[in-house]
Amino acid sequence: MKFFAKIMAALLFTALAAQAEDSIISNMKALQNGVDMIQKGFVNNSRVLIDEGIREIMKNTKAYKHLSDKRKHLKNVAYNNLKDIEKNVKSMTLALAKRDYHAASEAYGHILVNCAACHATVRKW
Ligand code: HEC
Repeated sequence: MKFFAKIMAALLFTALAAQAEDSIISNMKALQNGVDMIQKGFVNNSRVLIDEGIREIMKNTKAYKHLSDKRKHLKNVAYNNLKDIEKNVKSMTLALAKRDYHAASEAYGHILVNCAACHATVRKW
C-alpha cells in the first residue's frame, strides 16, 4: 500500500510539473530567451546563436492556447500576432540564407513589434 501511495505521489508530481512547463509564462520566458539569443547573435556575428534563438521562438508560438476563450476577439488578435512572428521568423531565415543581414535584422525588428503589439492587447484584458 505504501508503495502504491509513493507511485501515485510520483505520478501526481510529474503531471503537475508537466503542466507548469506548458504554461503561458514558460512560453513567454522561452520567447524572451529566443529574442535575447538572436540579439546577441547579431551583435556578436554569431549565426549559431541566431539559429538557436530562431528554434527557441518557433517551439513557443502556440502560446495563444493558454489564453482564455471568453474574449474570442482578443484571442484572435493574439493568435494573429503569433502567426506574424512565425512569418517574420521565416523571412528572417530566408534573408540569413542569402547572407542578407540587413533584411534579417529588419525582420527581427518586426518580431519585436509583434511581441509589443500582443502585450499591448492582452494587458488590457
Ligand atoms: C499571444 C500574445 C503574445 C505575444 C505574441 C507575446 N506575448 Fe509575451 N506575454 C503574453 C501574455 C498573455 C503574458 C502574461 C501576462 C502578462 O505578463 O501580462 C506575457 C508575458 C511575457 C513576459 C513576462 C513573463 C513573466 O515572467 O511573467 C515576457 C518576458 C514576455 N511575455 C516576452 C515576450 C516576447 C519576447 C515576445 C515576442 C517574441 C512575446 N512575449 C510575445 C502574451 C504575448
